[in-house]
Amino acid sequence: MTDQMGVALLAAGAGTRLKVKTAKPLIRLLGKRLVDFSISAVDDFLESKKLAGKFGVVIGHQKEEVKEYLESVYSNDSRSEFSYPIQEQQLGTADALKCFFKDCPWAKDTEYTLILCADTPLLTSDIFESLYNVIKEENIDGVCATFSVDNPSGYGRIVRSQKGFVIVEHKDSSEEQLKIKEVNSGLYLVKTKFVLEQLKTIDSNNKSNEFYLTDIFKFDSNVKAIEFEDADSFLGVNTMIQLEQARLNLITRKIRTLQCEGVNFINSQNCYIEEGVEIESGATIFPSVTLLGNTKINSDVLVEQGCVIKNSTIAEDTVVKAYSYIEDTAIQKNCAIGPFARLRKGTEIADQVKIGNFVETKQVKLDKNVAISHLSYVGDAEVGENTNLGCGFITCNYDGEKKHLTKIGKDSFIGSDTQMIAPVNIGD
Ligand code: UD1
Ligand code: MG
Repeated sequence: MTDQMGVALLAAGAGTRLKVKTAKPLIRLLGKRLVDFSISAVDDFLESKKLAGKFGVVIGHQKEEVKEYLESVYSNDSRSEFSYPIQEQQLGTADALKCFFKDCPWAKDTEYTLILCADTPLLTSDIFESLYNVIKEENIDGVCATFSVDNPSGYGRIVRSQKGFVIVEHKDSSEEQLKIKEVNSGLYLVKTKFVLEQLKTIDSNNKSNEFYLTDIFKFDSNVKAIEFEDADSFLGVNTMIQLEQARLNLITRKIRTLQCEGVNFINSQNCYIEEGVEIESGATIFPSVTLLGNTKINSDVLVEQGCVIKNSTIAEDTVVKAYSYIEDTAIQKNCAIGPFARLRKGTEIADQVKIGNFVETKQVKLDKNVAISHLSYVGDAEVGENTNLGCGFITCNYDGEKKHLTKIGKDSFIGSDTQMIAPVNIGD
């Protein structure tokens, strides 16, 4: 029988230190929201271990917005079931977990409970796998992921003994304990039966008067603290500085993966590439390129310095020259775009098309081998094969009330400085 894994994602906190109005789980990060990263890492883990998982995202601060977002993305998730337990008052992480067990109808019946925070976007599936392997193989009641840092300020310290360990929060630590560099990551995997028993014993006798979840771990009990080498993976996002660190880490991770698959970055340092972007081997990306949304760059495409490409596909052997801005556009093979081209929503470009400098397009279909080489606006138009639009060509597509279509057939030659007041129909 496969193990049932309950996933408690703690996301009720206020995120005050970010100093923005947006609820912390909904902070934008690389085309997704902060909370999405923890969920997708857990999803990968469940998938790789073939585990049946159910998620309970504990929400509190700005619960309506957070729930609305999560429902819109995950309610129809075919792989996992989602519940949204509410913690009305943030009385501490143990209280948050109590809300999880109270409000998720399935939570008490699972074999294991994986507990993590919604603000650690660098966690990866293999970290959960390591915890799972240890808890299974050694038949342990609960494991906690730890790491060591030079400056452990703010974290709970791991105090080890012969058997078991305890976690002492920074505020509650003695002089001696403050020197401990091994800290609690806030990620735990526990047997559900064990944690339910332990939760009954937790009080709020500490400096913060909070119910600390960390108190489930005790000396002499069957629990284990597992130290991980890579502290970066546990980075928590509490401030805008940490948000930038997380973002840079995630981009570097993505670029390293792409490089291993054969993508050539001339200098990747200032490239910004969102999570949903795909790039095929043999593509070359120059510095300061921004790739957004679900953009797909095919093999042997060249993207020069400073281009922004959003939700667009670029087929093989096309060159996008410097400082072009491309959105919601599909470009076929062997085209040359830019420099300084602006391709807007609904631009569809066939093979071997040439778009030169200071050309703007919107909602257009350009057939094979069309050339628009300089200084043009082409909107709401269809242009046939081999047609050349001269310098300064403009479609006057808007009469002040409505947009109209310009149609130009194939093999046509339109001279410089022509303005077509749509609707216009030009033959082949
Ligand atoms: C917690 C750990 C600490 C660890 C650190 C790692 C405790 C007592 N301490 O401290 O040992 O080193 O994480 O980052 O757990 N939350 C709720 N409801 C609450 C309180 C918190 O949902 O009532 C959520 C927050 O939204 C957040 C997470 O739990 O996602 C952690 O809470 P936070 O207050 O940031 O804990 P730390 O003080 O950082
Ligand atoms: Mg905190």
